[in-house]
Amino acid sequence: MTTNMSKSSDSRETLLLRSAPESSKISQKASEISCEVAVGRAVPVTAKLASQLSARRNQSLSTLPARDGVAEWLLVSVGTEQPPRLVSPALSFRPAPLAFMSLTPGMAMGGGGGGVGLVAAALAAVAATWLWAALVRLVWRPYATARAFARQGVRGLPHRPFRGHDKEVKAMLAAGSGETLDRGSHDFIPRVMPHYRAWMSRYGKVFLLGSGSPPSLCVGKFDMVNRILSDRTGLYAKVNPGPVILALLGMGLVLTEGEDWARHRRVVHPAFAMDKLKMMTGAMAACAAEVIRAWEARAAAAGGEVTVEVGEQFAELTADVISHTAFGSSYRQGKEVFLAQRELQVIAFTSIYNPSRVPGMQYAPTKSNMRRWKLERKVRDTLMAVIDERLAAAKEAAATGGYGSDLLGLMLEANAGEDGKRLMSMDEIIDECKTFFFAGHETTSHLLTWAMFLLGTHPEWQQRLREEVLRECGGAEAPISADALSQLKLVTMVLYETLRLYGPVTLTARRATADADLCGVKVPKGTSLLIPFAILHRDEEVWGADAGEFNPLRFRDGVRRATAHPNALLSFSIGPRSCIGQDFAMLEAKATLALILRRFTFEVAPEYVHAPADFLTLQPLQGLPVVLKLLDP
Ligand code: HEM
Repeated sequence: MTTNMSKSSDSRETLLLRSAPESSKISQKASEISCEVAVGRAVPVTAKLASQLSARRNQSLSTLPARDGVAEWLLVSVGTEQPPRLVSPALSFRPAPLAFMSLTPGMAMGGGGGGVGLVAAALAAVAATWLWAALVRLVWRPYATARAFARQGVRGLPHRPFRGHDKEVKAMLAAGSGETLDRGSHDFIPRVMPHYRAWMSRYGKVFLLGSGSPPSLCVGKFDMVNRILSDRTGLYAKVNPGPVILALLGMGLVLTEGEDWARHRRVVHPAFAMDKLKMMTGAMAACAAEVIRAWEARAAAAGGEVTVEVGEQFAELTADVISHTAFGSSYRQGKEVFLAQRELQVIAFTSIYNPSRVPGMQYAPTKSNMRRWKLERKVRDTLMAVIDERLAAAKEAAATGGYGSDLLGLMLEANAGEDGKRLMSMDEIIDECKTFFFAGHETTSHLLTWAMFLLGTHPEWQQRLREEVLRECGGAEAPISADALSQLKLVTMVLYETLRLYGPVTLTARRATADADLCGVKVPKGTSLLIPFAILHRDEEVWGADAGEFNPLRFRDGVRRATAHPNALLSFSIGPRSCIGQDFAMLEAKATLALILRRFTFEVAPEYVHAPADFLTLQPLQGLPVVLKLLDP
C-alpha cells in the first residue's frame, strides 16, 4: 500500500490510500481512495476497510455499519468529488490506540517540516501502517479468533505465525505411513490422517485447526456436518480449488456456485435419471465382460487360476465405461481425453504435495507447467471436436431428432432448452465432460477395488453374494439387466459398507461466506470448514461399538436406517451438492461384481500389502493382487 498526505481545508490531514494491503482483487477496485483522518488519530488500512471505502466512494453515506462494537478511531470523511462525512470504525477488531500512527500537521505534505523530514515521516507512516497491519493479522486477529472460539467451548491448535503445524503433521504422516495394516483392520486413519485423530482426541470432535486468516475448523459432529452440507442459501460454499485442480476439473458442477451451479445442475441432471442410467447398463456390462473374458483366458491357460492386480484393471475398466457411456460411438476420443486427464492428475498431485512449493510457481513456464498447458489444450480440442461432430450430426438428423442416448447426448438435449435457447456455453459443456472423467472414473474404480479386498478377505460374504447374483441375474451366460441388478440387496449392502470403511473421498471442505451460527457455534466469515468423512464413518457413538468392523448387515434396512442419524453415510456427500453420479457408480459396481462373482471365486493374494493411501482418492498403495479361480474351468 502507498500513502499520500495532503492538508485539507479544515486543518485535518488527508490520507490517500492507493491499495489495500491484503488482497490484489481489492487493490484493483480500491485504487485512489482518499480519506481524511482526524489529527492525532490513526486509521489502519485493512483490506476490509479498503473495500468498504471502495464500495462507497461515490455515495454520500454518513455511516458505515459497525461490527463487533465500536473501534476507538474516527474516520471523519472520505474524499471523493463530493466528500461524504463518514463516521465508522469499519474494523472487525478492537485495537488499542496507537501513538505511532498519529499524523501531526508537521508530517503533512506542505506542512513546514522540510522535504527530508517529510519523506522520513511518510516512510515512517508507511512502515508503521504496514507493521500494524502485520501485527493485527499475525498476532492479534488469530489470538482474538482463538479466544472467541474458546469462549464457545471450541479449542484447538495454538496459533503459530509462519511455520504453522506443518512439521508436526509431516512427522505424524511419516510415522503413520511406515505402518502397514493387518488385513483384518480397517483403521487406516493413523496412515492417512493421523493429525486429525491426534488433535480430535486432544481437543474434541470440533476443533480449531488454525486461527489465522482465515481460520479453519475441523467439524467432526454429524449435526454440524448435516447443517453445512444441507445448506441451500450459499452460506457454505466450496473452497477455492487453485489453478491445477481447476484445470483438471474445469468449472463444472463440482466447482461452480450459486446461479451457475443451479443452471449446470439443471442441464446435467436429466442424464443421470434412473431410466436413462438403465439404458447404459448394457454398455457398462459389455465393458466389464470384456475384461473378465481376458481374465478367464489367462486363468484357463494357467490351469484355472491366475493372479491379477485388479486395481489397475478397474482403472482401465471404469475409464472404458465412462468413455462409452459419456461419448457412445466417440469413445476412442473419450479414451484420449481420459489418458490426458490421468497425466494431468499426476501433475496436480505432484504440485499439491510438493514440499518445496513456491507460491505462484504454478503460473511460471516450467517444464511441468508447459506439459500441463499442452495437455489442457489437448483435452479441450478433443472434447470440442466430439461435441461439434455431435451437433452437426443432430442437425443433419433433424427429422429423427436427438443428440444420442449417452451422457453427452442427453446433456446437449437438456441444454437446447424448450425455447431453443442454450443454457450452457460450449466451454461449459466441455468442463462438464472433464468433470465426468475426473469425478466419475477413479472413484468408482477404487470402490470396486476395495469391495474386492473386503470380499476377498470375507469368503463367507463372497459366497452369499454369489448365490444372490446367480439367483437374481441367472447363470454365467445370462445377460445382465438393470432390473436384475436392482434386486441385489446383499451386493448393495456390501457396497455401502465398502463406502463407509474405504470411501474414496476421505474429506471435504467448505468456506463460510458470511458470519454464521453453526449449531450454536459462531463461525466468522471466511472460516474453512473441514469435514473428515473417514473419521465420521468410524464414530462409535453413531455407528456403534462395531464401527471399525466389516458388517454389511448394518445396512439391511437401507442406508438411512443404518444409524439413528439418517445422513450418517457421507461417501457421496449429502444435500444439494451430493454426488450426481452415485446411481451411475452403484450400477456400474454392481454390474461388474455380478459378472466377476458368476465366473470366479477369489482371495486376496499373499503378496498384498494392506496400506491404504490417499492420493486425492483413497487407494491401496501398491494395488490389489487377487487370486482368481475359475468356477467352471
Ligand atoms: C464411488 C464413486 C463415487 C464417489 C465416492 C463420489 C463421491 C462424491 C462426493 C463426496 C461428492 C461431493 C463432493 C463435495 O461436495 O465436496 C461428489 C460430487 C460429484 N460427483 Fe461423485 N462420486 C462418485 C462417482 C461419481 C460418478 C460416476 C460421477 C459422474 C459420472 C460423479 C460426478 C460427480 C459430480 C458431477 C459431483 C458434483 C455435484 C454437484 O456439486 O452438484 N461422481 N461425488
